[in-house]
Amino acid sequence: MSSFKEKIDKTNLPKHIAVIMDGNGRWAQERGFDRIFGHQNGVTSVRETTETAAEIGIQYLTLYAFSTENWSRPQEEVDALMELLIDTIEKETPTLDKNNVRLMAIGDLSRLPGNASEKLQRCIAKTSQNTGLSLVLALSYSSRWEITNALKMICTEVMAGNYSTDEINEELISNHMTTKSIPDPDLLIRTSGEERISNFLLWQLAYTELYFTKIHWPAFRKENLYEAIYEFQQRERRFGK
Ligand code: IPE
Ligand code: IPE
Ligand code: MG
Repeated sequence: MSSFKEKIDKTNLPKHIAVIMDGNGRWAQERGFDRIFGHQNGVTSVRETTETAAEIGIQYLTLYAFSTENWSRPQEEVDALMELLIDTIEKETPTLDKNNVRLMAIGDLSRLPGNASEKLQRCIAKTSQNTGLSLVLALSYSSRWEITNALKMICTEVMAGNYSTDEINEELISNHMTTKSIPDPDLLIRTSGEERISNFLLWQLAYTELYFTKIHWPAFRKENLYEAIYEFQQRERRFGK
């Protein structure tokens, strides 16, 4: 069986891939473990996906790690996810740095526990000069939160007289999103068989190609990423033209 890796056209790679990493809980429960075991195993998939994206020359990889709505999960699960976040960032920072990966984060980071946000900011600062893959973690992120925030900022600036309402255009709105320096995703992957967006990048996904796979996140491997990229390359993007 030939690998999708060989079938990929290296001259037509998506510049930005976004991933809704879903299915951790189901993956674990199907195996008789608790949901947290699924989150722990999801870290391997994060590592493989990041490595592969860096290796083949993807410029931006955005991973939806924790949504605003996920704060409403049982406290025990939220705590476990935060702990996993801290541990993973701590352990992976040297490897990310060695591989020239730049870490970024989007979301309402003020809601993260102090030690998580401290570790995160330290890794972001340490890797900020790297020129390879930009790995963007969406943490305590939701698109409606982001759009609401953007509106507040724009209203404040209009009221301060910095510009008039006539000057509000798509570019200005994009520049008030948390993704302001990041191009829109070309490809969105969602694992676990759910076919919905779950409050992720609603503004930025306007012309993104959507790819859904039944594979649960902890089982997602390099070959699955190659397959998604291959499938993306078979599509015709028309952008309404
Ligand atoms: C995705 O897996 C991880 C997070 C949302 C943090 P889930 O925890 O949503 O797992 P399922 O979808 O319930 O199986
Ligand atoms: C989306 O998954 C959020 C993340 C992957 C972080 P959810 O599991 O929270 O979304 P729903 O509840 O299935 O829509
Ligand atoms: Mg889920």
